[in-house]
Amino acid sequence: MRRWALVIGASGDIGAAVAAQLAADGWSLYLHYHKNAQRVATACAELAAAYPKQDFLSLQYDLTDGGHLDELVGQLFAVDAVIFAAGQTYYHLFKATTQAELSALAAVHLLTPMALVAKLQDKLAVSGHGRVIFIGSVYGGSGSAMEVAYSTVKGGQSAFVHAYAKEVASLGITANVVAPGAVATKMNRSFDAATLSAVEADIPAGRFAKPADVRYFVRMLLDPAADYLTGQTLYVTGGWLQ
Ligand SMILES: NC(=O)c1ccc[n+]([C@@H]2O[C@H](COP(=O)([O-])OP(=O)(O)OC[C@H]3O[C@@H](n4cnc5c(N)ncnc54)[C@H](OP(=O)(O)O)[C@@H]3O)[C@@H](O)[C@H]2O)c1
Repeated sequence: MRRWALVIGASGDIGAAVAAQLAADGWSLYLHYHKNAQRVATACAELAAAYPKQDFLSLQYDLTDGGHLDELVGQLFAVDAVIFAAGQTYYHLFKATTQAELSALAAVHLLTPMALVAKLQDKLAVSGHGRVIFIGSVYGGSGSAMEVAYSTVKGGQSAFVHAYAKEVASLGITANVVAPGAVATKMNRSFDAATLSAVEADIPAGRFAKPADVRYFVRMLLDPAADYLTGQTLYVTGGWLQ
């Protein structure tokens, strides 16, 4: 039977890696993007050529918007899994954080995803093995100076799945967070080489994660045999900060 996953942030580095793996595993995909239409259009074309029996559809949505979710969900057929791999951060002291930054972080990482999950619940329940997966962050557990607001919303993702998992376990839906440490993606490109080297030196595994290190655990959670793991935050950090 055809399985459908919605990858929120499929135009990002972790989301793109997840989408490529799921396509190889036989999933049909809704690939969401915000601004990078080109990356998702290219991925849809390449995946359709490689896996002609599956479907690959693109979706544009700004998670800071929070409205029009019924229109978004109305574009979807079945949804067996939703993976939230979108996000941004701001790097400065908390006292310099603006109201606009707080609102954007809350909307993108937490509030709009929560509202979307509520609207997807009936579709996920039909699946029998429905999956809600957030790409969280080790900072959601440990906290980080200079990224206080980001750490807070990442912790909120974990708090959400811990509670929501209990409400939907009887529907066959699991909800979990895969929480990476530092991943080599474009999200970290604004840091200079010295800062990146200092972080790397602090990671017991001796290197940044690759997107593939993160998607491995997403894939594991999507397996129907993973039905009994729910409400958890899996820290994928190379031993960093935990
Ligand atoms: N990289 C790390 O070190 C790291 C560590 C821990 C956790 N994470 C988490 O992993 C997730 C993926 O990050 P990444 O490293 O893959 O980052 P990335 O390559 O920069 O991708 C970010 C993604 O978020 C989307 N996005 C940003 N703002 C959006 C908005 N307003 N509405 C909708 N989508 C929006 C982007 O869409 P467009 O490109 O289409 O605009 C893109 O798909 C994030 O939740 C991040 O917090 C990352």
